[in-house]
Amino acid sequence: MSLLDKINRDTTPKHIAVIMDGNGRWAQKQGEERLFGHNFGVEAVRETLKAAQEIGVEYLTLYAFSTENWNRPKEEVDGLMDLLVRTISGEVDELHKSNVIISSIGDTDGLPDSCRNELQAAFDRTKKNTGINLILALNYSAKWELIRATKNIARLVKSGDMKLDQVDEATISNMLSTHGIPDPELLIRTSGERRVSNFLLWQIAYAELHFTEVLWPDFKQEDLYKAVLDYQSRERRFGLVSAQLEKNT
Ligand code: IPE
Ligand code: IPE
Ligand code: MG
Repeated sequence: MSLLDKINRDTTPKHIAVIMDGNGRWAQKQGEERLFGHNFGVEAVRETLKAAQEIGVEYLTLYAFSTENWNRPKEEVDGLMDLLVRTISGEVDELHKSNVIISSIGDTDGLPDSCRNELQAAFDRTKKNTGINLILALNYSAKWELIRATKNIARLVKSGDMKLDQVDEATISNMLSTHGIPDPELLIRTSGERRVSNFLLWQIAYAELHFTEVLWPDFKQEDLYKAVLDYQSRERRFGLVSAQLEKNT
């Protein structure tokens, strides 16, 4: 039985988020520049997307560039921005054909014009599609969006458009860049690091975390299936006890 056949389609996560990590180490292991690894990371994105489509995932969020990544050497940052533009323009036809809806989360105002324009063209081109949502986290950090949400809520309260007592979980969720998107049930991080690195802190409150030693450029469809099977082997209790869950099923 293949890994794919083992997946229970009834409990496939609707939303999978991925911290694509390990490009630099992958390149360095073969004596190449870090950018070489980023380039090969694009193939892993194709694999992951194909696998997610195959099992009926509705939202796939990929952490591609954090607000902290600007502090890397200029050559790497420029190379990553250039790769982003080339990849989006090169892939958009194929993505559109396979019914993908492309969007982003993060502070896209902070991206170079060439990136913003290429992204906007991809969003416009694919917005009427009905397949998987491919969400690129670009110039994203959870703290950035939580600060922005806090300021927006404070403004509404100050102007009298919202009462302080009305601020609840939904108010905050709706102010985040993921508003309207269900929280990820599964968060995957590659490369053996076991940290969240400022990604979706609010949204992963109850996500299952899957860490794999695989470096991002080596990540294949089977690796996504493994992560989903790991997810399906967990008992998600949401604060309850096992006996209560059994009663509800
Ligand atoms: C992830 O790979 C890609 C980005 C953060 C843009 P890294 O570039 O972080 O690779 P490592 O972690 O240094 O190996
Ligand atoms: C997280 O990876 C950001 C992305 C994958 C875009 P990093 O490589 O930047 O994270 P740290 O520095 O290891 O925490
Ligand atoms: Mg890294």
